[in-house]
Amino acid sequence: MEQQQPKVYDIPDDYKQNALITENRYHDMYREATEQNDVFWAKQAEIIHWFKKWDKVSEVDYHKANIKWYIGGKTNVAYNCLDRHVMSSKKNQAALIWEGDDPHDSKTYTYLQLHREVSRFANVLKKFGVKKGDRVIIYLPMIPELAISCLAIARIGAVHSVVFGGFSAEALKSRILDCDPKVVITSDGGFRGGKVVPLKKNCDAALEGTNVKTCIVVKRTHDTVPLTTPRDHWWHTETNSADIRNECPAEQVDAEDPLFILYTSGSTGKPKGVLHTTGGYLVYASMTHRYVFDYKDGDTYWCTADIGWITGHSYILYGPLANGATTVMFEGVPNYPDYGRFWDVIDKHQVNIFYTAPTAIRAIAKEGDEHVNKRSLTSLRLLGSVGEPINPEAWEWYHKTVGKGKCPIVDTFWQTETGGILITPLPGATPLKPGSATRPFFGIQPAVLDPTTGKELEGEAKGVLCMKASWPGQMRTVFGDHDRFFQTYFSQYKGYYFTGDGCIRDKDGYYWITGRVDDVINVSGHRIGTAEVESAIVLHKNVAEAAVIGINHKIKGQAIYAFVTLNTGITPSEDLKKEIVQCIRTEIGPIASPDAIQWAPALPKTRSGKIMRRILRKIADFQENEIGDTSTLADPSVVDDLIKNRIKDA
Ligand code: WT7
Repeated sequence: MEQQQPKVYDIPDDYKQNALITENRYHDMYREATEQNDVFWAKQAEIIHWFKKWDKVSEVDYHKANIKWYIGGKTNVAYNCLDRHVMSSKKNQAALIWEGDDPHDSKTYTYLQLHREVSRFANVLKKFGVKKGDRVIIYLPMIPELAISCLAIARIGAVHSVVFGGFSAEALKSRILDCDPKVVITSDGGFRGGKVVPLKKNCDAALEGTNVKTCIVVKRTHDTVPLTTPRDHWWHTETNSADIRNECPAEQVDAEDPLFILYTSGSTGKPKGVLHTTGGYLVYASMTHRYVFDYKDGDTYWCTADIGWITGHSYILYGPLANGATTVMFEGVPNYPDYGRFWDVIDKHQVNIFYTAPTAIRAIAKEGDEHVNKRSLTSLRLLGSVGEPINPEAWEWYHKTVGKGKCPIVDTFWQTETGGILITPLPGATPLKPGSATRPFFGIQPAVLDPTTGKELEGEAKGVLCMKASWPGQMRTVFGDHDRFFQTYFSQYKGYYFTGDGCIRDKDGYYWITGRVDDVINVSGHRIGTAEVESAIVLHKNVAEAAVIGINHKIKGQAIYAFVTLNTGITPSEDLKKEIVQCIRTEIGPIASPDAIQWAPALPKTRSGKIMRRILRKIADFQENEIGDTSTLADPSVVDDLIKNRIKDA
């Protein structure tokens, strides 16, 4: 490939000696997993407790999008994350260290304490009629009650769907309508960077006109919020009530019973309810957490994600807790009270393993090194990155300034759909190349396909990234729409799971993810579908049409750039732009706000009326020389106007 020879970082000596997986062992285990997939995954499943062993390890058919693991097995996620440890010497070990937005606010739960809180809240849910298989939506800030809710729901065999607290009332409502929850859990509000987020207000708007009969409200900000009777109940009143017992036996659920739904954006239509099930998901989350982060008993581990995203599900909650780790949960933001907050938290709790996103690293790095250098950071042993490709410059800064050149960086590639990490270094087994997610995890069989012919390419190659084989953590369906599951992931390339990403495989078999090849934009590690933003924009009464694309952005990775055509006779204005942004914030939330809106008298379309986003991308990224042939456009002259008026400082 026409790539420059990147720098290679060898495995540090202490990792060669003390790591769970060394280089030889990686190759042996990888081979075993590929050649004897079911034997391998049967062995690995012992990482969790089963009330009853499975009858069959796997049943997978990518031609029908049917995926099952550990068929007939019985287990429970909360039992694995709590009861097992309460019955061991870890009973009084810290399970969850919660660090508040305010640096003076923190709280630790031991396994015993967390077990009790979870059991009590599980009993509250039962009291409100929540049963196995019922959905419960959680719309909470990053407070302990969020973790407690997830585990309590899992404990009784119900299904949670966490909606990120930054999503709008409309976005919450569409998820409520899609999954029809029995209960919604929210709080009066939340704190982020010293500011209050009005969650209950959004929740009230979202619940209007739905079937939800029960809403449980956590008191967090102590702002006055109205309670609607008989629907709303205070969390503290319910959990402290004298008739709520401390014990709640964990429901023995089937390996393939659903554990959670998490909505994620795709290239078309509304967000999809990605459904994960119980047994395979937990095996995969705990095993990847153990090996990728080289987790050992006694380690304090911190993943900075929000539990509203899959990273928080798998690598704040389920993976670490299944392994009996001490996991840190952070309510705040990287720059409050100042840009040294992450490093303060690491020193305060003596964090050994730290996992964050490239966008956060870039935002902090641009503020200079002094914030980092003022702190000690000697507890750190391993660093991780997730969410988007990490540019080598940010990688080097992370490695040198934060890791003092001693800590390996695991650049982990995965997706909401994959449940856990797919392509990643293992710190004791993989020499690192900055910017590459390196090699597949055990059992993962990537394939690079030619995007036009669909042919699998061998050796060094550039194409689209697919997976040939299943793994236990893979999603099982789109909630309520199995055909959409098949169409989205298995219809383009027959017999493969299609990730939606492009990639390069180099001569050493290392993978370099090059970003989405579909109409999904990755803004600060958050996935935004262009179709969703476009539908929000055209809700404005003066808008005729809109096309949204992603442009490169120094900090966020990508930013949203919108081309908007107004109705005939409407005069463009700055106020109109503000109203359009407001439409997006109301429909989706602030994370989908565009960095630039360009008025477009017309959009470049094919004769059949399809918008040529490829051309719009070139225009917005100042690459008009690469636009190429425009003769297939219905009206090639529209391109010139768009080039002339593009926005320069987006
Ligand atoms: C998309 C999935 C699951 C992690 C959080 C995001 C991109 C994720 C990497 C990485 C390059 C990455 C891909 C992927 N992505 N991690 N290490 N290197 N790209 O989950 O919201 O489902 O987004 O994030 O484009 O498809 P998500």
